[in-house]
Amino acid sequence: MNKKNILLGVTGSIAAYKAAALVRLLVKEGAEVKVLMTNAAKQFITPLTMATLSKHPVQVEFFDPENGDWNSHVKLGLWADVLLIAPASANTIGKMACGIADNLLLTTYLSARCPVAVAPAMDMDMYAHVAHQQNLSLLRLRGVHVIEPPFGELASGLQGQGRMAEPEVIARQAQAILSKKVNLSGRHFLVTAGPTCESIDAVRFIGNHSSGKMGYAIAEELAWRGARVSLISGPVHVSVRHPGIALYRVSSAQEMYEAAARLFPDADGAVMAAAVADFTPESRVEGKLKRGKSAIAITLTPTKDIAAYLGSIKKKNQILAGFALEADNERTNALKKLREKKLDFIVLNSLTDPNAGFNVDTNRVCIMDKDGREVAGELKSKVEVAKDIVDKLSEWAAEH
Ligand code: CTP
Repeated sequence: MNKKNILLGVTGSIAAYKAAALVRLLVKEGAEVKVLMTNAAKQFITPLTMATLSKHPVQVEFFDPENGDWNSHVKLGLWADVLLIAPASANTIGKMACGIADNLLLTTYLSARCPVAVAPAMDMDMYAHVAHQQNLSLLRLRGVHVIEPPFGELASGLQGQGRMAEPEVIARQAQAILSKKVNLSGRHFLVTAGPTCESIDAVRFIGNHSSGKMGYAIAEELAWRGARVSLISGPVHVSVRHPGIALYRVSSAQEMYEAAARLFPDADGAVMAAAVADFTPESRVEGKLKRGKSAIAITLTPTKDIAAYLGSIKKKNQILAGFALEADNERTNALKKLREKKLDFIVLNSLTDPNAGFNVDTNRVCIMDKDGREVAGELKSKVEVAKDIVDKLSEWAAEH
């Protein structure tokens, strides 16, 4: 965010106190921050606090009544590389949707030529109200980035969706907007992640070492770039940080198949990052298998190949990406999977590199597409690998 100009609009909400932390974070990341407040916002946090943290005077009124000094909303709009409104009250969002211009923040919004993002903050029933939701939809249609509020405890003590996203989430979204990579708005992607668990009895299962980190990093990168994401995840210990990701928790390969088959027809594409079990016990033992002296045999039957199924129903305007984890003949096997599962590209992981693949934070991959293009990457963090994979999806989205 070095030297980027961020205009932060603060409106009247109890979450205004979090705007102070947001300013600190943005300034620490190297951004120039100027703050605009509504009169209602001043009831929740003082201009002095915001001016001290941002190192610029806070602007509230159109002009200073003492000396007539004019705060030009046009100049402010031109100065900003991004306009963030956090917290954004239902009132301000409603006025933005209607084009009402009765304060400096709203006139600046109407004059601004830069990208705009709002982080709504309000009671859960207000947030869910159809009038407010229609206002948000209208803003989304006009290209405003909506940083969804997460579910959690509200100022009223109730639990629900409406509290403002955390400053770290808003700062990360601003970063994505500033890097001009938010080009997946209006797109819907499906991501599978983590292992599957195939039950043997009530307490035992066949699983694998997949941590889910790669799939979760891809889901988050897609969401930061504006896509709606449905993440189908096997049991993992990582959590979703982006509030815009819909998480579908599953356990077995069959459950993952059912969720993917249901969600894929509505998606623009899918990334199959899950380590799906290829076999499952033919029957599950009721209760717990008792220890015995003789060997037992468990008959395993093949599971459904989810990627191959999605490949078989894929329409022309959908993209499908998969992973290949190979111990030998890496390229040949990966290309075979690319063809057989009708993937558009495949991400080859090597089992021979100790810093890549399962249960580590780094990965080294080679991305191969159906047109014969191949890009072999360095050892990188899974977050960086996710960016490379999402770059490939963004290229496709730009053409479709
Ligand atoms: N995959 C899937 N459903 C399965 C098995 C695999 O969707 N039942 C997907 C994986 O998510 C991955 C790709 O298919 O994107 C390749 O998975 P991989 O385990 O490398 O290959 P398999 O097809 O399972 O073949 P093998 O294990 O024999 O190499």
